[in-house]
Amino acid sequence: MREAGEKIACLTCYDASFALIEDRAGVDVVLIGDSLGMVIQGQNATTAVTVADIAYHSRCVAPYLKRAFLVADLPFLSFATRERALDASQRLMQEGGAKMVKLEGGREQADIVEYLSVRGVPVCAHLGLQPQLIHKLGAFKVQGREDAAAEAMLKDARILEEAGADMLLLECVPSSLGKRITEASQVPVIGIGAGPNVSGQILVLHDILNISPMVTIGRKPRFVQNFMAGAPDIESAIRAYVQAVKSGAYPAPAHCF
Ligand code: KIV
Repeated sequence: MREAGEKIACLTCYDASFALIEDRAGVDVVLIGDSLGMVIQGQNATTAVTVADIAYHSRCVAPYLKRAFLVADLPFLSFATRERALDASQRLMQEGGAKMVKLEGGREQADIVEYLSVRGVPVCAHLGLQPQLIHKLGAFKVQGREDAAAEAMLKDARILEEAGADMLLLECVPSSLGKRITEASQVPVIGIGAGPNVSGQILVLHDILNISPMVTIGRKPRFVQNFMAGAPDIESAIRAYVQAVKSGAYPAPAHCF
């Protein structure tokens, strides 16, 4: 799709009912995100989510996807060593039915990415804002604004791709950096708050339906658009999201940094 110039529409999903709807609505990539810690479990961070949680939700979703590609998150510390990363990936792919795993981190994860990749595990490397680091960062904020940080992230992306990453995900980075990293990469680059010049977009399901706890308490991230507004039902809202990604209508300048 990247080569063909078709934007990739990605969305998180956690259960069978939404899996059916998302697949029917044309979502290309479904992610079992550790965001489930916040939108399903009601916690204020993703750090308590376990491999068992992701495997469970992946099992709920996988059988209902006819065309969408299923990616599952490696949760906090589940990839702290090569062995743990391989065990967790095996579980998510064999029990959960995932076709790719996603892990947060920069060049410090290159060794893990390579270890998984040469063993046949497709990997998506998640750069920029890494929500699993929230207790070190102190707040969810835009990453890579300063020149040195932007250069470092660009280098991280190159290193991770060379280590075998099959996809990159950029969260909360300036649009200019999203564009530079995409131009410097061969693999698809999926953005969330990374501007329009990437290969595709991802959002959290509950955010686009305007029902996530963050949205409900009035703390809507800048990159979130409520696709329920004006939609007659949930499936139409998800179709509108897919169409907006495909046409480039989403993200608009108001969603970008
Ligand atoms: O956990 C998640 O849902 C994610 C997306 C926000 C990209 O990682």
